[in-house]
Amino acid sequence: MEFGANGNGNCNGNGKAKPITLGLKFLIYGRTGCIGGMLGRICEAQGIPFAYGSGRLEDRESLRDDIAAAQPSHVFNAAGATGRPNVDWCEFNKIETLRSNVIGALNIADVCWEKGLPLIFYSSACMYDYDSDHPLGSGIGFTENEPHNFKGSFFSKTKGMVEELIKDYENVCILRVRMPIMSDLTHPRNTIKKIIGYEKVVNIPNAISVLDELIPISVEMAKRNLTGVWNFTNPGVLSHNELLEMYREYVDPNFTWKNFTVEEQDKVLAAPRCNMELDITKLKREFPELLPIKESAIKYVFEPNKKKNLA
Ligand SMILES: NC(=O)c1ccc[n+]([C@@H]2O[C@H](COP(=O)([O-])OP(=O)(O)OC[C@H]3O[C@@H](n4cnc5c(N)ncnc54)[C@H](OP(=O)(O)O)[C@@H]3O)[C@@H](O)[C@H]2O)c1
Repeated sequence: MEFGANGNGNCNGNGKAKPITLGLKFLIYGRTGCIGGMLGRICEAQGIPFAYGSGRLEDRESLRDDIAAAQPSHVFNAAGATGRPNVDWCEFNKIETLRSNVIGALNIADVCWEKGLPLIFYSSACMYDYDSDHPLGSGIGFTENEPHNFKGSFFSKTKGMVEELIKDYENVCILRVRMPIMSDLTHPRNTIKKIIGYEKVVNIPNAISVLDELIPISVEMAKRNLTGVWNFTNPGVLSHNELLEMYREYVDPNFTWKNFTVEEQDKVLAAPRCNMELDITKLKREFPELLPIKESAIKYVFEPNKKKNLA
């Protein structure tokens, strides 16, 4: 198995596409999770053989057992402590968070490295916050190589810490997911589902991942054996109000909401939140068809839910 940031494409040298599932077998962690569930459905739709890992990330031997049983071509880590109802949970459950997000994430990266297996690791961009070099509204996003500047929450701290450690594993592709939205507007991990349920929301532009577009791209990244760190959102930003305006336009014309300031928000949260724009040049170069955030949100999230009124 060769790993390379430029990938090995999907052609057999004579210009003809080869069957894309040939030799593929995915081992996926995060069966009950949002991204893990989507991965299974994509594999079924594409005819890719797959198995869900039954081991726990902090239990290294259980990961070895899963790999021995599944004999995968690629491993996907969509498992992690994310917190319910939100990441504030991590502030009060630090050991569980460390065991999944740091020790566990390192275990699976290291076991895959031992076995020569590529690993796709769904992580986070929550270690960046607008600053004077990347001011809000400037269009200047953080690149993959810039130092992290936010560790205000324990969740962000673990994600930044583990990225620093795992990025040197040449078999790992780290995908920085951020404020995910998806066509299933009832899913508790959908940012839209979250914010329509809040009494008040802040109104700040942010990088956003449209999962219906991006998770299939991550499967393609596995097929191309891409590695390294990738900002994994759609290009551009959307504010909370812009998201809610689209929700009102497409789904529920009677929807109303109230805004409050970051200072007011801080009073009802256990840990501060970050807000940022990301530079998506690297991902766009590999996937030129990737849609800007507003177009993607309309195509994949709002159009399919037109006038369903899920409030
Ligand atoms: N920063 C962001 O905005 C952002 C947004 C979305 C996703 N992400 C990242 O993407 C990854 C997947 O997110 P998601 O939204 O799909 O999360 P999710 O819906 O909360 O699912 C998490 C999954 O991880 C599993 N899990 C947790 N700890 C585990 C452990 N120690 N060993 C084995 N499995 C474990 C859970 O299973 P159990 O219930 O059995 O524990 C669950 O299946 C996470 O790492 C998350 O941080 C980041």
